[in-house]
This record gives sequence, structure tokens and C-alpha cells, in this order.
Amino acid sequence: MKLAHFSDIHVTRFPLSQGFALKRLAAVASFTGMGRGRDFAGSDERIAKLLSDVDELGVDHALCTGDLTGVSGDEELTRCAQLFGHRLREPSRFTVIPGNHDRYVSSQAGAFEKHFGALCEGGRFPFVKRLGPGVTLVAIDVCRPTSLVDSSGLVGKAQLDALAQILTDRSLSTQFVVLALHYGLLRSDGSRDKRSHGMRDDLALMALVDRADVTVDVVLHGHMHRPYSVRTARRTVFNAGSGTDLHVACGYNVYTVDAERFTLRCERRAWSRVTQRYEAAPESPLNLQVRTREPD
Ligand SMILES: [Fe+2]
Repeated sequence: MKLAHFSDIHVTRFPLSQGFALKRLAAVASFTGMGRGRDFAGSDERIAKLLSDVDELGVDHALCTGDLTGVSGDEELTRCAQLFGHRLREPSRFTVIPGNHDRYVSSQAGAFEKHFGALCEGGRFPFVKRLGPGVTLVAIDVCRPTSLVDSSGLVGKAQLDALAQILTDRSLSTQFVVLALHYGLLRSDGSRDKRSHGMRDDLALMALVDRADVTVDVVLHGHMHRPYSVRTARRTVFNAGSGTDLHVACGYNVYTVDAERFTLRCERRAWSRVTQRYEAAPESPLNLQVRTREPD
């Protein structure tokens, strides 16, 4: 089966145009001073083209690992939902989970689910979804509103316990299991993310993912806008990077999964400034073939 994976598409409006909040005031600095406004200018159009590209490829399923908005503004959420259009009514083909920018301010609790609830099981995390014959997705939400200088995530004990239950269930052991979340387990060089940018309980999650009695074939995430692949002690991880950030080589991944042989082939598609389309990126280091475990 073919699975498209994109992330951090960020429909972005001027932060204070989305209603006042101290956190949004701080976001103005990155919007203007650090070039975020420029890097995501026109992201609406790129999102529309990315979604069309995914449709044209005829993938079996498409997964978005969060950060659909800039500051979880109503206008941003509404616009992004509008870009998804009919796909919002197709949970068998699309899954979307929130990123930290979609949980930016506590006053917007529930706003993400209002628009995208149909594609994330109503926001009841962790959830399990069959993507196709032999392929199962397990998704967690590690995002929450944070203080001004903090963009960390948290799995939390309750979700960690629930995830352990799911991943050790014998019914998953014959499935090719995809674990999806917004934050990364590791940076591209294999080191831990910073305390203010990673998950506070990253080590606990990684220890779970690497347990011998747990079934996980691949971990998919976003959050860091430059795409990469990395390995934990036992598992392969792909960060799709940003689908639309012009500051990096933005694009998305398409995985061909062989659920009987436990192999996955990643093919990168990148935004072309010349053709203004997403195209195959044959030079990308993301184009990898991995065997996730030996078949019985
Ligand atoms: Fe992001």
C-alpha cells in the first residue's frame, strides 16, 4: 500500500489578526523578525497543490502529522479546512493529527477537533486505525498550549500507559504498524531535542517504542521543518519536514509498504519553485528502502 506523509503545512495569518493572546504577541517576532511570514507566504496555494498531488498519485492513505496553522487562529483553521474540502469527509483516506501550533493558546481548546475531528477520531487519542490490508496506524497527541518561551510537548502518563497497552496487544504483531505523532523522538544527528522544543517525556516514549514486546515498524512525525530519517535503538523514524516552508527544501514523503515482507520504500516529493508544483526528488537522501523486521 502507498501512504503519503506530510506535515507542518502552516496556513499562516498575521498572529494578532487571529485574536489577542500573549503567546500570539510573541509569535509576531518570528512572523516579522525571523521571516516566518515570508517563508509561509502563499502556503495556502502550496497546500492546495500538495493535496492535489497526493490525489493524483492515487495513494491509499494520506497522513498529516500536525501544524496545519500558525497560531491556531479561527481564520487559519477555517481556511485549512476549506483547502481539505471533501477530504474532511473521507477518514478512510485521510488522517490529520494536531501539532503544537494547532494547540497554541488554551482559549482555542477543541477548535482543531471542530474542523478536523472527523480525520482524528474526534480527538480521542491514542487511536488505532486500519489503513489497508496488514497496515495499522497508531496516533498520539503530544501537543498542548505552553508558556511564551516554551514549545515543548508531553505524552503524559495516561497516554503512555494507553499506548503501551495498544502496542503490546498481540493482534498488532502481524500488522505493519505505523506510529504517528507531531514531535520527533530524535534530531537528525541522533541527539535529543532541546528541553523547550522537544517532548518533556521523550525518553519514556523512546524506551516504550524500543521495547522488544512492542510492535512498531516505523515512526512518522514532523515539527522540525527540515526532513530527515533517523534510527532509535530498534526503529526507523521519518520526519516529513514542512510541506510548505520556503526556508527549507519543503515537500512530503510517499511510502510504499509491503506488509508481508515488512519493507518500506520512501520516495520524496519536493516543491519546485520553477514549475510551482510538487515533483519527484530523486536526489533526496530520504529516498530509502528499509526492512523493519524479519518476516516469520
Ligand atoms: Fe511547524
